[in-house]
Amino acid sequence: MGKIIAISNQKGGVGKTTTAINVATGLAYANRKVLLVDFDMQGNASQGLSALKGEGQPTVYSVLMEKFPIEKALIHIEESGVDILPANISLAGADLMMDKIGHGKERLLKEALDPLRDRYDYILIDCPPSLGLLNTNALTAADSVLIPVQCEYYALEGVTQLLITIRIVQQTSNPDLKIEGILMTMSDIRTRLSVEVSQEVRQTFGKLVYENSIPRNVKLSEAPSRGLSIFEYDKRSKGAEAYKELCEEIIQRNGGR
Ligand SMILES: Nc1ncnc2c1ncn2[C@@H]1O[C@H](COP(=O)(O)OP(=O)(O)OP(=O)(O)O)[C@@H](O)[C@H]1O
Ligand SMILES: [Mg+2]
Repeated sequence: MGKIIAISNQKGGVGKTTTAINVATGLAYANRKVLLVDFDMQGNASQGLSALKGEGQPTVYSVLMEKFPIEKALIHIEESGVDILPANISLAGADLMMDKIGHGKERLLKEALDPLRDRYDYILIDCPPSLGLLNTNALTAADSVLIPVQCEYYALEGVTQLLITIRIVQQTSNPDLKIEGILMTMSDIRTRLSVEVSQEVRQTFGKLVYENSIPRNVKLSEAPSRGLSIFEYDKRSKGAEAYKELCEEIIQRNGGR
């Protein structure tokens, strides 16, 4: 059965989508079957893998709110083999509409994904930068949470808030939710701040923090504008190397899954 990992941090711009795209693709190149769920109305993960096909395209919104069959909404990326359930601006306001559903409103994504679990090794969810009902849906569907943390001041504040949210979800809709790992992103060994933040996060969270961190690398920020993962855009870049090693660490933490 596939493992569902939510990539979440309500803080904006910390590297959630970059991590979702490149971990999904890296795991696929390591011969794992991977589904990437874009769960952000910005649709950055969908754009970043060229999965948006224009108006009227079925998205995660159609699946959750209009009962559109999930298989028919998936886009298959030829190069890597990643499947993606795309999102676009239609997801704006979805949390308000979900809220009206009442009972079971936090389980909509879980119910949509559960029938697909057997087909994948990993299902990754790229979460929006907020702690609303969309995020709760993702944390309810997930087995674990991967938390990207940018190497900068206030990095820990966001994480503390997220950990409170995770505890609430554990007490309500998903008692088995685990922390998959904390990932330091955009690190720069040349700046003292980056090194200090990284040390502080490691002191606070110990083994939860991945040994591999992701360096600041311009290739990682260029790749999405070409609609490519870092592995097709520049597989020799520092960014590609870092995400490849992270994928190996993820596989190892999951007992070779
Ligand atoms: N390691 C990196 N090196 C250089 N640029 C990066 C790196 N990681 C992310 N970026 C850039 O930083 C910006 C924010 O990254 P990203 O979109 O992945 O964050 P996010 O957490 O998904 O943001 P949001 O909260 O808006 O969804 C993007 O422009 C991205 O290209
Ligand atoms: Mg994002």
